[in-house]
Amino acid sequence: MPVTQAREISAARRLDNVRYAIRDLASVASEVTAQGHAILPLNIGDPISFDFATPRHLIEAVYNAMKDGHNGYAPSPGVSEALEAIRGEAARKSITTVQDVFVTNGVSESVDACLTALVNPGENILTPCPDYPMYSAVLAKLGIDLNTYFLNEDDGWQPDLIDIQRKITSRTRGIVLINPNNPTGSVCSRRMLEQMAELARRHSLIIFADEIYDKLILDDDRHVSMAAVAPDVPVVTFGGLSKNYLAPGWRIGWSIVSGEAAAVKPYIEGIHRLLRARLCANHPEQYAIKAALEGPQDHLLEVRQKLRSRRDVTVKWCNSTPRVSCVAPRGAFYAYPRLEIPEGDDIFVKELCRQKHVLAVHGSGFGQKPGTRHFRIVFLPDEATLTKAYAAIGEFMQERYK
Ligand SMILES: Cc1ncc(COP(=O)(O)O)c(C=O)c1O
Repeated sequence: MPVTQAREISAARRLDNVRYAIRDLASVASEVTAQGHAILPLNIGDPISFDFATPRHLIEAVYNAMKDGHNGYAPSPGVSEALEAIRGEAARKSITTVQDVFVTNGVSESVDACLTALVNPGENILTPCPDYPMYSAVLAKLGIDLNTYFLNEDDGWQPDLIDIQRKITSRTRGIVLINPNNPTGSVCSRRMLEQMAELARRHSLIIFADEIYDKLILDDDRHVSMAAVAPDVPVVTFGGLSKNYLAPGWRIGWSIVSGEAAAVKPYIEGIHRLLRARLCANHPEQYAIKAALEGPQDHLLEVRQKLRSRRDVTVKWCNSTPRVSCVAPRGAFYAYPRLEIPEGDDIFVKELCRQKHVLAVHGSGFGQKPGTRHFRIVFLPDEATLTKAYAAIGEFMQERYK
C-alpha cells in the first residue's frame, strides 16, 4: 500500500511577524484581474514596469560578461572590477574612511547580511516609522523586537531626533536611516545627518544608511551621504542598480562599510562569514556595476525630469482633494499622503482596488503614528495614467465618505 504523508508541515513560528505589505496585496489584485479588470498600479517601485528602460551600455556589459565566460561562481565579496568601481563611487560620495565594500543580490541581501551579522537576541536596532518594510521583516525573522522611531510629518518627514534619543537603550546596536526615503520621498539635510551621527557617536551605534535612491533627487539640492558627514562613525552605506540604474531584476546591490578601522574590523569579518556561506552574488550582472558608475549618466537627466513632473501632478492632486494632504516628496518616486477617513487605511486600499481598480499600499503596512492614516503612491506611471488613477481615487472617496 502506498504511504501518504498527510501531516501538515507548519511554517516556523519565527515567521509569524514577517510581513511585506507591498506584495501582500497581490491577492486582492488577483481577485480584480480575475474579474477581467485592468489594474492601475501605484503600488510597486519597479521603474521597468513603466516607461523607463535599463541603459543599453549596462545590458551590453552583462551580455559581454556572459560571452566572456563569467558564468561560474564569483568571489564571495564580488568581482574586483566591481569592488574598485564601488570604491570610486564612495570617493565621489565623499566617504573617506572606507574599510570594506562588497556586492550582494540587491540591497535586500546586504540588509539581511548586515543585520544578521550584528544583532544578538535581546538587542535592538532603531528603524524608522514609517519604514520600508524589508527592515522589519528581516528583524522579525531574526526574532528581534522592533524598536521604531518616528519620522515627523509636521517636519517634512524628517527623523524625530527626540524620539530617537528616547528610544536608545543599553541594548540598541544601530539606527536605520533611509535617505532619500521610501515611503515618504523625504531627503535629509546635512544638519539632520550631523545630529543623528552625534547620537550614534555618543551611544556607540552603527548607522545603516540606505541610499539606494541617492541619484533620484527631484529638486536642485544635492544628496549628502551620512558616511561623508560622519567619517569616524561606523556606517554601512547601501547602494545598488535597482533604482538609480533601472535594473531591479538583476538583483545587484552593494555595501560600503566606513568608520574607524579597528572599530569595524570584527563586524566586517562577521559579515564576510555570511557572504562566504551564501557563495556569491549574481556573477555576470556584477559587470554592469563599473559600466553604471563610471559610464554615461544621461538616463538620470530624463528619469529625474519625468519624476519631477509626475511628482508635481501628484502633489497638486493631493492638495486639491478633500480629506487628502501630502508633504511634497523631494527624492525617490514615492508620496505618502495623509488621509482623513473614518476607517482603516487597509480597508481603504482594498476597497479602492476592488471598486476602482487602483492599487496603492496602505500606511499601516509601513507604520504610522497612532490615529493617523496614510497610503503610499508610487508615481512612476506617466501623467495620463496618474491623472486617471487620481480621478478614480477622488471619485471613490466622494462616493464612500460623502
Ligand atoms: C529603501 C529601499 N531599500 C532597498 C530596497 C530593495 O533594493 P534591492 O532591489 O537592491 O534589493 C528598496 C526597494 O524598493 C527600497 O525602497
